[in-house]
Amino acid sequence: MAQFEEHADGQMFFDELLKAQGGDSKAYEDFVDKSKPKKTTDDCFTPVKVYECVAEWVTEKYGVERSRMVRPFYPNGDYEAYNYPSDAVVVDNPPFSIITQIVRFYARQRIKFFLFAPSLTCISSEVTVETACAIPLGATIPYANGAEVNTGFITNLESGDVCLKSEPELFKRLEAIADEIRKDTKKQLPKYTYPDHIVTAAIVQQYSKYGVPYAVSRKVCKRIRELHAQQEVGKAIFGGGLLLSDKAAAERAAAERAAAERAAATQWKLSKWELDEVKRLSENDTEDGT
Ligand SMILES: C[S@@+](CC[C@H](N)C(=O)[O-])C[C@H]1O[C@@H](n2cnc3c(N)ncnc32)[C@H](O)[C@@H]1O
Repeated sequence: MAQFEEHADGQMFFDELLKAQGGDSKAYEDFVDKSKPKKTTDDCFTPVKVYECVAEWVTEKYGVERSRMVRPFYPNGDYEAYNYPSDAVVVDNPPFSIITQIVRFYARQRIKFFLFAPSLTCISSEVTVETACAIPLGATIPYANGAEVNTGFITNLESGDVCLKSEPELFKRLEAIADEIRKDTKKQLPKYTYPDHIVTAAIVQQYSKYGVPYAVSRKVCKRIRELHAQQEVGKAIFGGGLLLSDKAAAERAAAERAAAERAAATQWKLSKWELDEVKRLSENDTEDGT
């Protein structure tokens, strides 16, 4: 597949992000893989509805037309080398780990911006307070990679010398959208159950939630991305999974019984290869570890 850097303005990245957000977990995993290198919140891609809400707010509040808004932050992008039109306003979600240097750069270059920012630490740097205005909203936005991030904004669009402010209306709108996204995600999530020989992060989350102690040791599992049965239909295990030995699978079954029953499920079958791997793993999984 083509790489994002072919398009200097990042348009291809944002087009593909839009497509991937409408797809299944495998499409999203492929998309995120392709967007490497990545670093936790630095790679929280913004859901389209959230971006639209923020862009609309910037137009309403500061009179910035949509055509002036630019998005210089995307995989392999270089915001310093980006070609900013003279009346550009950056409305984008930047990598949070370098947000101070970004604000400093825009202040020096006199470029206007309204940037997503980590809410609780949005006044942790002097340069923000001196050159911009922080808006700690604390909106918990579910980003496209599934992470929920406590989000605020930093802008130099405010007139006067305000350097810190609340924005109750924007908070309300973003929280409403966050709720909508959570509901849509729940509706879209396929209700699969996996055989006892497979365990996933989502499954173990349920054990944590329902108070079931559970652990898997490294030597009795193998990390897999999808089952062969899923490959045939272009699906994958969301976030990957672990293929377990017989004994570890029995332990997982016991944990499952102790936790709440999962609803309406598709039972995936293990392939011959997976069964052979289980056999091999089981041979290593003896009582004395020999
Ligand atoms: C939090 S993500 C948001 C992506 C996109 N702006 C969005 O709203 O969905 C930040 C993006 O900035 C990219 N990035 C990291 N360093 C950058 C730089 N120096 N210049 C431009 N983009 C960069 C990261 O690869 C990542 O894709």
